[in-house]
Amino acid sequence: MNDYLKFENITKTFPGVKALDSISFGIKSGSIHGLVGENGAGKSTLLHILSGAYSPNTGKIVIDNNEKKFNNPSEALNAGVAIIYQESNLVPEMTVAENLMIGHYPQKNGFIVYKELITKAEEQIKLLGEDFNPNVKVKDLSIAQRQMIEIGKALLHNTRIIAFDEPTSSLSEREIKRLFAIIRNLKEQQCAIIYVSHRLEEIFDLCDSCTILRDGKHINTFECMNNLNNEILVKKMVGRKIKDKYGYEPHEKGETLFKVKDIYGPGLSDKVSFEINSGEIVGFFGLVGAGRSELLRLIYGDVKAEEGVVLVNNKTINNSTPKNVIENGICLLPEERIDEGIIGVRSVSENINISSRRNMLIANLFLNEKEEEKVADKFIDDLKIRTPSREQLIRNLSGGNQQKVILARWLSEKVDVFLMDEPTKGIDVGAKFEIYKIIYQLANEGKAIAFVSSELPEVMGVADRIIIMRSGKIVGCVKREEATEEQILSMALPVSR
Ligand SMILES: Nc1ncnc2c1ncn2[C@@H]1O[C@H](COP(=O)(O)OP(=O)(O)OP(=O)(O)O)[C@@H](O)[C@H]1O
Ligand SMILES: [Mg+2]
Repeated sequence: MNDYLKFENITKTFPGVKALDSISFGIKSGSIHGLVGENGAGKSTLLHILSGAYSPNTGKIVIDNNEKKFNNPSEALNAGVAIIYQESNLVPEMTVAENLMIGHYPQKNGFIVYKELITKAEEQIKLLGEDFNPNVKVKDLSIAQRQMIEIGKALLHNTRIIAFDEPTSSLSEREIKRLFAIIRNLKEQQCAIIYVSHRLEEIFDLCDSCTILRDGKHINTFECMNNLNNEILVKKMVGRKIKDKYGYEPHEKGETLFKVKDIYGPGLSDKVSFEINSGEIVGFFGLVGAGRSELLRLIYGDVKAEEGVVLVNNKTINNSTPKNVIENGICLLPEERIDEGIIGVRSVSENINISSRRNMLIANLFLNEKEEEKVADKFIDDLKIRTPSREQLIRNLSGGNQQKVILARWLSEKVDVFLMDEPTKGIDVGAKFEIYKIIYQLANEGKAIAFVSSELPEVMGVADRIIIMRSGKIVGCVKREEATEEQILSMALPVSR
């Protein structure tokens, strides 16, 4: 069978960056093609070119043996090519129906027929197996629901080619299963599907073939997955072998540094208490919705706790507001870093330094530019942030590299307690390793670290001790040496009756 979609010698450069260097490969209809590579490898750029959002410097896109040139995403959509992006393209202030049916509003004498709009939207929502109200605003929906609307939008256009850019990074297990069912169904309907993810197990689970990019170059296309395993894939992606994924080494622990006593508030179902010693890394494992992020937010004072106290070095924090909590030596790396964290029109360096600036002022007045440059360069180097310079605007970086910049911002804080919510989400295998190294280094400096992750092997690989949460409370705690996957999962999974 011939390839339905072909990329032929696609090259794309940005000032200072060759994002894609003569990329060629093809995808058959009725198949799912994985696209993998480190942060900044060029995956999203290639999808942007496919969608007409960017035009390539050279090269062409061939669909069903015809060369195609799309000038913008709506031209592509009308021709049956849809991309479900890393970041949502919906208008938050508009309703589900308005977003879903955009470009298809039923009209009469130049007026939109709202009743019909709602009925049509309802039909489409049903087709997706969802049941949300077409009149709610998109901003009130979960990430998974928003994604479903994006997919619904695509399907309204008789889509033949559909690409997913890291669709699962914020979904729960159940939502992922639903999404996979939809993707497999699209395959049955003979769509050509491109699937981008940093979760390699998903690539093996879902894909029929796959392509590896590295630094904008085509490394390999595997026409079937039989000759491929995790180790080979990682090696091709990062260009070297990663032996021990976690690089953990036992480290000294000190006295109790951080204490949470009977904290209770929104998102929890019971009072929560735990302690972390200086030099200790405590992993928090649970399914999405177990209350881990909510717990961190209550500690941080982002959401007001109804009860409980937080102590650092035996000192009680009175009046928990984020400002006060930071001043008492605790910082939170939030999960939704891109939405909450980035200042797109500022440089990489400014984004790294912005929150620790107050510690670096000269005579409390002037910015210490030299020091800021040093810090920025250190993190660009440590976390291998792919950017032409520290002066690049952060919005020009790839999604994963933006994550790294925000991470660097928090890691450069001079505090005693780090609350990290999914610090490796959306980050490639090589850089994850660098982040683990920074966490160990913080522990060696005597900090206390709460490390939230939804990936069990990662929690088991990095933490000294693991606290397990389920349905808004702590249900267990195991030491690293004694932890087994079965035991932790049996505590984390909902009790079946
Ligand atoms: N608009 C832009 N201006 C300048 N550089 C850009 C722009 N868009 C992307 N780049 C650069 O092109 C390269 C490829 O980025 P791309 O977003 O395609 O990576 P990616 O493989 O999707 O990475 P990730 O896994 O982090 O999402 C990166 O070095 C990025 O900084
Ligand atoms: Mg990307």
